[in-house]
Amino acid sequence: MKPFRIMFICSGNICRSPLAHAVFEHLTREAGVEYMFEVESSGTSAYHVGEEADSRMRQTASRHGIRLNHRSRQLFRNDLAEYDLLLPMDSRNFRETVALCRTEDEQLKVKMFRDFDPEGTGDVPDPWYGGMEGFETVWSIVKRTSVSLLDAIRREPAA
Ligand code: 4NP
Repeated sequence: MKPFRIMFICSGNICRSPLAHAVFEHLTREAGVEYMFEVESSGTSAYHVGEEADSRMRQTASRHGIRLNHRSRQLFRNDLAEYDLLLPMDSRNFRETVALCRTEDEQLKVKMFRDFDPEGTGDVPDPWYGGMEGFETVWSIVKRTSVSLLDAIRREPAA
């Protein structure tokens, strides 16, 4: 069976999307379904390409038992063809991702990450310029949304 390919997207690929990437992979391993998925993350900008995740994000994740070991990479036009579901973290990332689409089929694969949040919708707030509490907020949103995202995909692979 072909794996379901999922791409988490934010601006720098050093805070929000690497967290979602690691949390989602962790949940698939816990559920014993990691063989069904290929998980990746990327940024709409090239500013931080090659960098490790932000140390504040790594610290927050580590307090919750998640290790981040991704290196930032940019989102490419071809990713829209290659991945089955692309999940931008905020509305600006959504617009930037849709702008790379070449077909309507590609556009249909782009959904706001928080469309899967059982407790809210809209943006995962960018924590970059704020204090540590912003990173904890990102953690809470990403954790509960990833749980419900995995449930949704397992129920309906074309989520
Ligand atoms: P991310 O956070 O998009 O969640 O990785 C950001 C990281 C860096 C910048 C903006 C957002 N920046 O402007 O450099």
